[in-house]
Amino acid sequence: MNTESNKISMLKTTPFDKLRANGINQSFPKTHPPGHQTGNHSRPGLKNCWRLLCCLLAGCVSSISLASHNFTTPDRTTLAPVIPTHPSEEPIQPLPAIPKLNPAKVTLGEKLFFDPRLSANGKLSCASCHDLETNGADHQAHSRGHDDIPLAVNTPSIFNSALNPWQFWDGRAHSLKEQIDYVIENPREMANSWSVIIRRLKTRPDYVRKFGNLYADGINADNIRNAISTFERTLLTPGSRFDRWLQGDEQALDANEKKGYQLFKAYGCTACHQGANIGGNLFQKIGIFADYFQQQDKIQPADYGRFNVSGREQDRYVFRVPSLRNVAVTAPYFHDGSVNTLHEAIQLVARYQLGRTIPDDDIQDIVAFLQTLTGKYKGRLLTGRVAP
Ligand code: HEC
Ligand code: HEC
Repeated sequence: MNTESNKISMLKTTPFDKLRANGINQSFPKTHPPGHQTGNHSRPGLKNCWRLLCCLLAGCVSSISLASHNFTTPDRTTLAPVIPTHPSEEPIQPLPAIPKLNPAKVTLGEKLFFDPRLSANGKLSCASCHDLETNGADHQAHSRGHDDIPLAVNTPSIFNSALNPWQFWDGRAHSLKEQIDYVIENPREMANSWSVIIRRLKTRPDYVRKFGNLYADGINADNIRNAISTFERTLLTPGSRFDRWLQGDEQALDANEKKGYQLFKAYGCTACHQGANIGGNLFQKIGIFADYFQQQDKIQPADYGRFNVSGREQDRYVFRVPSLRNVAVTAPYFHDGSVNTLHEAIQLVARYQLGRTIPDDDIQDIVAFLQTLTGKYKGRLLTGRVAP
């Protein structure tokens, strides 16, 4: 075994033991977000089934991931040559293909996504904060909504969000449809109501015709949610170099990027960032090994994370692990948008999530790997402020 391999294999001795000791594999939410019991969402039985299925799936992924970090398996410690294993043996899977959904519904959803009539002041559309021309977000630490005051948390990319079993940093919505109600009715975001939106859309003959063709009951809240969420389900970004490598194209990654992926696994990042979305399917406390928020000047209510949803003390500072798909083009980072570079983000997660320092050389290789996760929308690579 060469020196590099030895170095990487030695990395593997601590993080998982520590993470297990910290209950890393018991990180699924045990309570239902409040939206579940309220409002128009009246199919709790079905939703419970989905939740259970999602938990089981996420649980499987998690245990597969942890199991796959069998520190004695020799091929996991070999750096050169890196032999791409079968995708199912990797803790990360390629993105699924874009689903083939009713094209007329997708087009209607897309039209609604870009329509500022959805906001009270007629100025904001979903695309104002989720720019599909760049990275599915807006490069701001905090987007500004209806009242022009910065929002409490950073806007996540809309791309690939359909793969997450829960929506939002604190996972309070468990479907794309449910998520729409929050943003439309939030006085800080679109500050609108369904009755106003429906009245506005009914004055537009094109909407009346399109809804009439697709839905027996025409324009109503549920059909608007259905159209938008159908469109959102097509917002996947396949075609990243890393996915091509996972699918067997050995040339898709260079040596540093492959080494970066080995380090990503060896340091234990895949305990939290795994599955097709490289995150999004687990909840974790920020600051497992040290108190992250102690360093902050002021703790905001949004920093309490899932505590705001469940009211349980053990959920304080717990967040949905973010997806790392397209992460090189989605700066700034973290729920509060406080981190500007991938380098800094990795230093912080190393310290607070893994309890260690990662040498700069290794960070650079991990960044090189993360840059291979940028995928394509409508055939074009996503763009953003270049993350160093
Ligand atoms: C004013 C800016 C703004 C507008 C307008 C906006 N969003 Fe968002 N969006 C956000 C922010 C901020 C979050 C994160 C909120 C949170 O986690 O609490 C978010 C989160 C989301 C998420 C969850 C993503 C994830 O990974 O958790 C989805 C899906 C989404 N928005 C869709 C939409 C749709 C659909 C619309 C239009 C109906 C819309 N947004 C309009 C700012 C905006
Ligand atoms: C114990 C779980 C856990 C581990 C292990 C972990 N992370 Fe994370 N990671 C998180 C959480 C939770 C956040 C969100 C932090 C926040 O929003 O304040 C995060 C955020 C990030 C971000 C910023 C993403 C964004 O969009 O804001 C990057 C980049 C990242 N992690 C990379 C890594 C790397 C690289 C490793 C391994 C060295 C790693 N993480 C290990 C849980 C983890």
